[in-house]
Amino acid sequence: MNAPRLDLYAPIHKALRAWMFDTIVAVGRIDGRDEPALKATLRKVEGLLTICASHIEHEHDFLHRAMERHMPGSAREADLGHQAHHRQMTRLRGLVAQVQDAEAAVRFPLLMTLYRELAMFVAENLTHMQWEETVHNEALWARHTDAQLDAIHDELVQSIPPQEMAEVLRHMLPALSPLERHGMLADMRGKMPPQAFEGVLQLAHEVLGPHCWADLQRALGLQLELPAGRAMAC
Ligand SMILES: [Fe+2]
Repeated sequence: MNAPRLDLYAPIHKALRAWMFDTIVAVGRIDGRDEPALKATLRKVEGLLTICASHIEHEHDFLHRAMERHMPGSAREADLGHQAHHRQMTRLRGLVAQVQDAEAAVRFPLLMTLYRELAMFVAENLTHMQWEETVHNEALWARHTDAQLDAIHDELVQSIPPQEMAEVLRHMLPALSPLERHGMLADMRGKMPPQAFEGVLQLAHEVLGPHCWADLQRALGLQLELPAGRAMAC
């Protein structure tokens, strides 16, 4: 059996799926009478929309450019999808503002509209991500070696500001399987300054449960004494 090819989409899409599901559940649970909780959840929606917009830019600037260089038109369908996502995100941002400013009597129907429209945005993204992970990966694999794909990935990652990267890792690390997590952190350890990598480990410790954290330390051959992390399922 051939070794699996490098999949540039899988880790970030796992993070985005987890982030989307988490946000939609939070919106469904909103207590519209609880102002601080409402504000916190609406910020969560805005955070998701910001990361989705940024993700579109990264895909366009690095992956679509690589595809189009070899196969003009190969990223066109996804580009059109991204344009539709931008329109949906503008509508969702408007709904967030309306909920925020609404009187209690109209807040509840508006929250239901936000919940349903966010769900449709998530549904569209699930279909879109499947297209990218199948059709786009095949196109990328046909014209690039794994080393070339890895170089594209490194360039993409280096373009991401540290704060955005930390937010992404906060959602990505718990969303990956242990083997994916080990592979990603081993790769980062080889490419990052030691101090920056320590920051990643601290973050991993915060977002992973004790079992996954111990498993990660074993895989990386580490024995770190860090303050207690959050209690998570894994
Ligand atoms: Fe995309």
